[in-house]
Amino acid sequence: MKSLVMKELKQPLQLDDREEPQPATDEVLVELHAAALNRRDYWITQGLYPGIRVPVILGSDGAGVVTKIGNNVPPHWQGQEILIDPGIDWGEQTKTQSERFQILGMPRDGTFAEFVTIPAACLHPKPPHLDWNEAAALGLGGVTAYRALFTQGVLKSKQTVLITGIGGGVATTAMRFAIACGATVLVTSSDDTKIAQAIDAGATGGFNYTQDAWHKNVVSKFGEVDLILDGAGGAGYGQLIDLVTAGGTIVNYGATAGPPQQFDLFKVFWKQLRLIGSTMGSPRDFQAMLEFCRAHQIRPQIDQIYPLNEGNDAMSRMQKGTQAGKLVLAIQ
Ligand SMILES: NC(=O)c1ccc[n+]([C@@H]2O[C@H](COP(=O)([O-])OP(=O)(O)OC[C@H]3O[C@@H](n4cnc5c(N)ncnc54)[C@H](OP(=O)(O)O)[C@@H]3O)[C@@H](O)[C@H]2O)c1
Repeated sequence: MKSLVMKELKQPLQLDDREEPQPATDEVLVELHAAALNRRDYWITQGLYPGIRVPVILGSDGAGVVTKIGNNVPPHWQGQEILIDPGIDWGEQTKTQSERFQILGMPRDGTFAEFVTIPAACLHPKPPHLDWNEAAALGLGGVTAYRALFTQGVLKSKQTVLITGIGGGVATTAMRFAIACGATVLVTSSDDTKIAQAIDAGATGGFNYTQDAWHKNVVSKFGEVDLILDGAGGAGYGQLIDLVTAGGTIVNYGATAGPPQQFDLFKVFWKQLRLIGSTMGSPRDFQAMLEFCRAHQIRPQIDQIYPLNEGNDAMSRMQKGTQAGKLVLAIQ
């Protein structure tokens, strides 16, 4: 099978011909139609992730058809069109993942290939309103956005939510979820074109976070916000504390810009803020996310689609951060 393999850190992925893997008793073999990138894939190539092993096929997100099933797998999965929940062994608790939790695509081989083996527990029927590329683009970003917004952030319609770095895959998906829920959605970006696109898609306002005092403009135009969804952290984190309302919530699911350099703890306790972390989501979050997408006919925003053998071009677009939405690899 054709596969994109990471053999060394900080080097391009290599297109290899590998033996088709065989599913273990609780697993299935999926013939992939599409895979999608996440920032995690890029972090791994740069050595910025714990427990890296090489060689490995990266890729957490994928959609395709089940072509073989292990002995303990219910036979109805054979031949099914599916998308993958990339979270493996979340465990029994909904509050947090177990110590066994893994993400597909390192250490286990992932979806940047023609075939992948996965535990049958990770299978979900492909929502009929999505094409293969959209189905592949939904998984990791979708469950992260859903848990951060609704499970952790408890977003309600009529509330105002600010989503940072709207070019990001999680951020664009979260924006679509929040609009569908009836919230007022504000976004930030380093790129005015991405802000204009977000407003076209239904966001109420957007602010360029590279400009000084952008956060003061948010408050003067829209007032303080109820919820902030942030995947960036970094120097701008302190400004988020200023523009969230008293008693409000900041949910953080990433730190693309590194750790916060400075933030005012006095404001955190005086404003009675809730600062919450969020990572991917439980199987229950994933199921709820799919039901929400079906009910509202939500499609993830795709930036560009590349053939598998041009996967390195997709990785370099992600590195530059020029994308608006998900980068997809079309496989079959
Ligand atoms: N905890 C989890 O389960 C989980 C799951 C998924 C992702 N993550 C993490 O969340 C982050 C985003 O992931 P992704 O896959 O959505 O990545 P992505 O698609 O590569 O998003 C990158 C975006 O981050 C934004 N950004 C960069 N620096 C920023 C800054 N200083 N302030 C605000 N925004 C900034 C940029 O938005 P603009 O172009 O609009 O400026 C850029 O387009 C990554 O750090 C990733 O590792 C965590």
